[in-house]
Amino acid sequence: MPNSTEQTSQYPTIHKSVAPGTANMQDYDLLYNNFNWASFGESTLNLPRANGVNKASICLDDHPPAVMQRTALLWQATNGDKETYTFEELKRKTNQFANVLKDLGVQKGDRVFVYLERIPEIFITLFGALKVGAVVGPLFSAFGPEAIKDRLEDSGAVLVITSPDLKDRLDSVLPELPAIRHVILVDRQQEYGHPLKTHEVRYETAMQNASEAFEVPYTDPDDYSIIHYTSGTTGKPKGAVHRHAAVIAQAATAKYILDLQPEKDIYWCTADPGWVTGTSYGMFGPWALGATLLVYEGPFNAESWYQLIQDYKVTVWYTAPTAIRMLMKAGEDVAAQYNFSSLRHLCSVGEPLNPEAVVWGQKVFGHVFHDTWWQTETGAMHICNYPCMPVKPGSMGKPFPGVVAGILDDAFNPLPAGEEGHLAIRPDAPSIFRSYWGKEEMYNSKFKNSWYITGDRARMDADGYYWFIGRADDVINTAGHLVGPFEVESALIEHPAVAEAGVIGKPDAERLEIVKAFISLKKGFEPSPQLEQEIKNFVRTRLAAHAYPREIEFLSGLPKTRSGKIMRRLLKARELGLPEGDTSTLED
Ligand code: WT7
Repeated sequence: MPNSTEQTSQYPTIHKSVAPGTANMQDYDLLYNNFNWASFGESTLNLPRANGVNKASICLDDHPPAVMQRTALLWQATNGDKETYTFEELKRKTNQFANVLKDLGVQKGDRVFVYLERIPEIFITLFGALKVGAVVGPLFSAFGPEAIKDRLEDSGAVLVITSPDLKDRLDSVLPELPAIRHVILVDRQQEYGHPLKTHEVRYETAMQNASEAFEVPYTDPDDYSIIHYTSGTTGKPKGAVHRHAAVIAQAATAKYILDLQPEKDIYWCTADPGWVTGTSYGMFGPWALGATLLVYEGPFNAESWYQLIQDYKVTVWYTAPTAIRMLMKAGEDVAAQYNFSSLRHLCSVGEPLNPEAVVWGQKVFGHVFHDTWWQTETGAMHICNYPCMPVKPGSMGKPFPGVVAGILDDAFNPLPAGEEGHLAIRPDAPSIFRSYWGKEEMYNSKFKNSWYITGDRARMDADGYYWFIGRADDVINTAGHLVGPFEVESALIEHPAVAEAGVIGKPDAERLEIVKAFISLKKGFEPSPQLEQEIKNFVRTRLAAHAYPREIEFLSGLPKTRSGKIMRRLLKARELGLPEGDTSTLED
């Protein structure tokens, strides 16, 4: 398997020195044997409360007075502008936005989507929507019209919050989305010059007229809170739905894995709120604990990232392997120009973390990167490295307290240590997904013998450490983002020149995998570099920048089964120069 990261012998176990009493988790086994989700919710989050378990309320409304005056959000714009918001300020603003939505007739259970750049209004609108009981859906701002249409249509969204720069993309698909009743326009720079249509509402005006008082209605722990769309092998992305009680798992893991100590930490999660890491750990977990978040609007760039860590004295940093590899590539001389003495704990998620990257962290920042494994579906970290536990570079670590993990054979029975199989999880954490929106059957198919089957393959060693091996399916992981081959193939065949398309993940040193497309052209079209570029742009603008094929290969025909299914497995084997395996179903 190309994704294997196992290099035990080359990289010896790292025994860190954590002074007694300094980390939230002092002893892994002790906590593992004594942990219980409900008691954590009760003791740390004071749950359930009079109004039940509402994520937004827990994060912003009911902290002790001293915490309410603490900075919740430190925001830096791409142009260097800065803003800060205390918990108290966010409480009032989200109350106002809840009133705006209420006045527009948004009801409990309605789907409300946020399609914005990384600006403070993402937080205000998303938490305001949670307060009225809406089910929120964040949309990555780099998504094109096709990607947003799929998600808004599938979920039956009634309202979208967007900005002048993103509005055109939404408008181009709005006629196909009759369920959408309102579009709220966040116009920070007052740059939108057109008169508003009847379904459009200006955020700034609506907020001005809205009361700062709002009573959050009773929220059941099982009420749905958020939908994140995630890619699978077949079909369009599916909406993994989480409930309000997920905040218990997000807070517990933020406490014991990110080791957040809200009185003193400045915490930076580099993930965009369009993805699950950006909500579970870029909002819910940290804020439920009362921690201060840094959010940077701008894109990745080694110098600006280093500058932020130095300027804001970031203490805890949660990022991704592709970013770490890009920092490594930028060179240690760049890193050497900055002061990283504020940093005390580093974590990573999204793809296998190379052992070299773990160790590089120690060299450049004085701390190893702690790998964490989880998924959109698990809603919170599940298999991780902890400050108090020795790190085996290349291993994802051990199950979080409250989590039972297993490696299963093809009949979904547990395998002994040392053997490779399906990575599975007992679906006990409050954050485990409760549904794929509208796809109950597909949801149920993920559970076997009381296990949730993750779709990953892994191995557990004799010490109980888990080692990632690869995906069990065709899903592509490019720079930490999952891409379903079917989505890309669907976008490709909408191009007038494309007859057939087969899409695979091709191993890549920086991005783990890149999307590669094999294409056969319709009669009358000839392969050319121009056409190749045109097809790439076509997918890039319709779907998203991370999902377009960085490589295209034109073939006169694609290998198909006798029933006409394109054999991606064969395309991949040929690409990698591997044995072609069983080709008995290949058409003649
Ligand atoms: C898939 C989930 C929830 C975090 C963002 C991604 C891969 C995730 C690791 C890791 C190796 C990892 C898996 C997983 N993955 N973390 N530490 N080591 N692989 O969420 O988009 O739902 O993707 O990302 O394949 O199943 P996601």
